[in-house]
Parts: sequence; C-alpha cells; structure tokens
Amino acid sequence: MAGASYSKVLAPVNRYYTEKIKLHGTTSLGVDWNSRESQELRFKQLTQMIDKSKKFSVNDFGCGYGSLYGFLKKHKPQYYGFDISTEMVEKAKQTYGASSQAQFKTGHKPWKKADYGIASGIFNVRLKSGNAPWKKYILKTLDEMNASSLKGFSFNCLTKYSDKPKMRPYLYYADPLFLFDYCKKKYSKSVALLHDYGLYEFTILVRKDI
Ligand SMILES: C[S@@+](CC[C@H](N)C(=O)[O-])C[C@H]1O[C@@H](n2cnc3c(N)ncnc32)[C@H](O)[C@@H]1O
Repeated sequence: MAGASYSKVLAPVNRYYTEKIKLHGTTSLGVDWNSRESQELRFKQLTQMIDKSKKFSVNDFGCGYGSLYGFLKKHKPQYYGFDISTEMVEKAKQTYGASSQAQFKTGHKPWKKADYGIASGIFNVRLKSGNAPWKKYILKTLDEMNASSLKGFSFNCLTKYSDKPKMRPYLYYADPLFLFDYCKKKYSKSVALLHDYGLYEFTILVRKDI
C-alpha cells in the first residue's frame, strides 16, 4: 500500500481519534475503549509473549496517550510509541515525559526495530473504508510489524463472531481463522490465537524467537 493510499485510509481515522482525545482527555474513553479494565485486559493478552525477565524493547503501533508504557513501565522497557494523531502524542508526552526510556512520535510507521511490536486497537475503526482496502491496510501493517520486530509481534481485532445486534457498520470485524492461518503461513510457525478473554475481539501473538 503506497503512502497516498495509507493517508486516504487513515486521515478520517486520525480525525475520529483526535476528536475522542479532545473530548475525553487521557481516559479509556479518550482512546475509544469503554473502560480502563478492558484496556488493561487487552494489554495483558498482547504482552503475554514478552519475556519480562530479560531487558526488552517495544514498538507500540497506535500508542494513544501511552497507556501501554504505563502498563509495562515497572519492567523498564525501552519503549517507542507512535500514533497518527498529534494530539494523542502530545498527551503521551505530557503524561510520561519524553525520556530515553519512552519516546513518542507522530506517524504510522516505527522508526526503529524493537524486540516486540504491539498494536492494540488500530484495526477496528474503519469508518467509510470498504472491506477490501481495509483488509489490505491490515495485511500491509502486519508486514511492517513483522519487519520491525526481532522477537515477535501481537495485535488485536474485533471478531466476526460478535453478536449481530452489537455490530456497527463503521467498525471492522475480522476473521480470526483467516488471520491465524495467514500469520502462521507467512511469518512464523509459532502463532497463538486468543479468543477466550470475554471481549468481542481476539488477539494474535506471533513469536519469532522459538
Ligand atoms: C483504540 S485507540 C488505542 C490506543 C492505545 N493502543 C491503547 O490501547 O490505549 C487506537 C489508537 O491508534 C491510533 N491509530 C489508528 N491507526 C493507526 C495506525 N495505522 N498507525 C498509528 N496509529 C494509529 C489512533 O489515533 C488511536 O490513538
């Protein structure tokens, strides 16, 4: 996906999230999650692949106001967070400061390789993008996660197994079996699909160090 297609897909998404953070500030609602508990439950799934007994670095794709850094900071990671919304990045810097331990930048691509790449919530809100360009965007982003991670990467998506009355047309409901198969064939033999944590979504962990 070329730069121009990326901005076509992501410009409305940027406006959507920028409005949320302006309205709700540095709360779970400010990144469009409905509770702090569910936000942390997602982090718990996504970070399962990290060996926290060793030093590690993380690229956080769509870092919002930097909550994942807050969740991990007791383990002293080298953390690189980036987000398409400048307002999000400003809030992250205000909340966690810009130190050598945690760096935040505006954008949709990592600027360094890291041990792990993590994406919580960047594949959900598609607004008016059709299924085909949105799927292409997801797969291109997975290529970037793979290329920029040394030990593994993880991401979550809303599930197509959601209850029909709860589903919304501006959200994208992915097929967990397709993505599991895709990651297993393309990236690594060691892939886990977590679809048992009580939210209308799933998490995929791709381990490259096994
Ligand atoms: C649902 S919020 C989650 C924020 C954070 N990951 C968390 O869980 O607290 C998704 C964030 O990703 C950003 N975003 C969406 N697509 C992105 C992309 N392709 N690259 C970088 N940031 C993106 C949005 O601006 C928003 O801040």
